Amino acid sequence: MKKTLGLFAAGAVALAMTACSGGATPAEPGAAGGAPNKPLDQLVVGFAQVGAESGWRTANTKDIQESFKTAGIQLKFSDAQQKQENQISAIRSYIQQGVDYIAFSPVVQTGWDAVLQEAKTANIPVILTDRAVDSKDTSLYVTFLGSDFVAEGKKAGEWVTNEYKDAKEQVSIVQLEGTTGSAPAIDRATGFADVIKANPNLKVVASQTGDFTRAGGKQVMEAMLKSQPKIDLVYAHNDDMGLGAIEAIEAAGKVPGKDIKIVTVDAVHDGMVALTEGKINFIVECSPLLGAQLIDVIKKLNAGEKVEARIVTNEGTFTQEQAKEALPNRKY
Ligand code: AHR
Repeated sequence: MKKTLGLFAAGAVALAMTACSGGATPAEPGAAGGAPNKPLDQLVVGFAQVGAESGWRTANTKDIQESFKTAGIQLKFSDAQQKQENQISAIRSYIQQGVDYIAFSPVVQTGWDAVLQEAKTANIPVILTDRAVDSKDTSLYVTFLGSDFVAEGKKAGEWVTNEYKDAKEQVSIVQLEGTTGSAPAIDRATGFADVIKANPNLKVVASQTGDFTRAGGKQVMEAMLKSQPKIDLVYAHNDDMGLGAIEAIEAAGKVPGKDIKIVTVDAVHDGMVALTEGKINFIVECSPLLGAQLIDVIKKLNAGEKVEARIVTNEGTFTQEQAKEALPNRKY
């Protein structure tokens, strides 16, 4: 998988992909995104992925690639290595090739209007998956399918608020943020802050980006352990950064999950294992399995049917006990 992604990363942005059929009609959000009405095996979709920064992303890529294979729809896939300029190049390449649809998960929220306008001018409908763009012109994309990241932050905040409801003194929280400017980093921080503000004892004493990577989480946590006199809880915007924090906490001679509690978001395999081992205390689920919904949207648009402007993914939460039960049946 890694090797394949690497090859695509180099190839996709270099515009080395073959040309294909013409585009569909542009669409208003929620409206039918044009109806090429082609046999599915003649449809071509370009997907511009963020990168391979986390277990979540790897699972998301695998699910999307498998879903296209199962549906018999041709997928052109590119890995932007967490760089917006690479994603923009990949989208431009898909426009040049005249794909039928473009789907992408924007690495950051802003800065997309120009390239999305180019897709619209070329009559190629764009589907946002996983992450939103911050654009006033919602006619630049047909739909946004993925999680409600604010709700995820709130769920994390609710667990923390309940866990410390009897606290008589300050609970010192450090936050490991996702990629700066990305929708999940912004929204998970907002949702969490909205909930914990009800208890003035809950205080975020430090907050810094770990870029959604395990190495980033470890590095930031190491620095925080040195700079903060007291840390009671880590709120990490994804499992990978939480797993990096566990390494830093153990290296500092403390016990993760006990001396310092940890709450994360995602519920990917390694995070769930750490939860069952008691090293993480609570995980808010964020499902990477968006492939089937993406295929469903494409099929509807191809048939000239309407799609919802916003499709929200269903997801839950896991305590340590719930993780033990759920882990054997998890798909990722
Ligand atoms: O956009 C989804 C987030 O991106 C996941 O929570 C994180 O693990 C990933 O890198």
